Amino acid sequence: MADQRKQQVRARENPDPEEMNRPVPWIVIALVLGVFIWAVAYIFINQRDDDPTLGDLRTISTLEEKVKSVSSANGAELYAANCAACHQASGAGVPGAFPPLAGSEWVAGQDRVLASILLHGITGSLTVKGTTYHGAMPSFKARFDDNQIAAILTFVRGNFGNAAAKVSPDVVKAEREASKDRSTPWNGDDDLTKFK
Ligand code: HEC
Repeated sequence: MADQRKQQVRARENPDPEEMNRPVPWIVIALVLGVFIWAVAYIFINQRDDDPTLGDLRTISTLEEKVKSVSSANGAELYAANCAACHQASGAGVPGAFPPLAGSEWVAGQDRVLASILLHGITGSLTVKGTTYHGAMPSFKARFDDNQIAAILTFVRGNFGNAAAKVSPDVVKAEREASKDRSTPWNGDDDLTKFK
């Protein structure tokens, strides 16, 4: 009776687990091999043609030149960001407050006078197109280099209906040097008409 019972219990149990022979499928082996061969071949087929040991040979001065040439091309952007708030995007100014750059005799006048206006700014009374203004024009000598001032002035002289010649950075440079001791803005017509 006891034996019969043992047999019943044994019959209910699962067989012991046993490792079966499951090799990696040949397709997976083929894929891994294929990728490996491709990777090695890739290194040999795609040789870099520049020598990485040479590194990046650009110097700070090369990069500075690039920055300058980019900024000097952007007279329109510099104007929009730094002048348009007062002189307006159209260059028409605001009557009674900010004089127009469109058709202004100062814009069309001598480039060195115009450069000086931007370098040092103006206070006092200034006559533009027959109207006298009593505002304050800020100084830009600390904010912009010669290239940038020349770019802005060239933009102003070639837009808003103006058709005056370009302003060269050399003119701005010379004016900056000639007036390097000045720390106050020009006193309107009194100072600037002497220039003309
Ligand atoms: C905060 C306002 C303001 C900003 C910003 C400003 N200006 Fe002026 N600008 C004036 C005022 C005001 C005058 C007249 C000064 C006076 O009445 O004494 C003037 C005068 C001038 C003049 C001579 C008069 C004329 O109308 O032709 C020029 C040129 C000029 N500005 C160009 C510029 C340029 C270019 C910029 C940008 C780089 C600029 N200004 C930024 C307020 C401003």
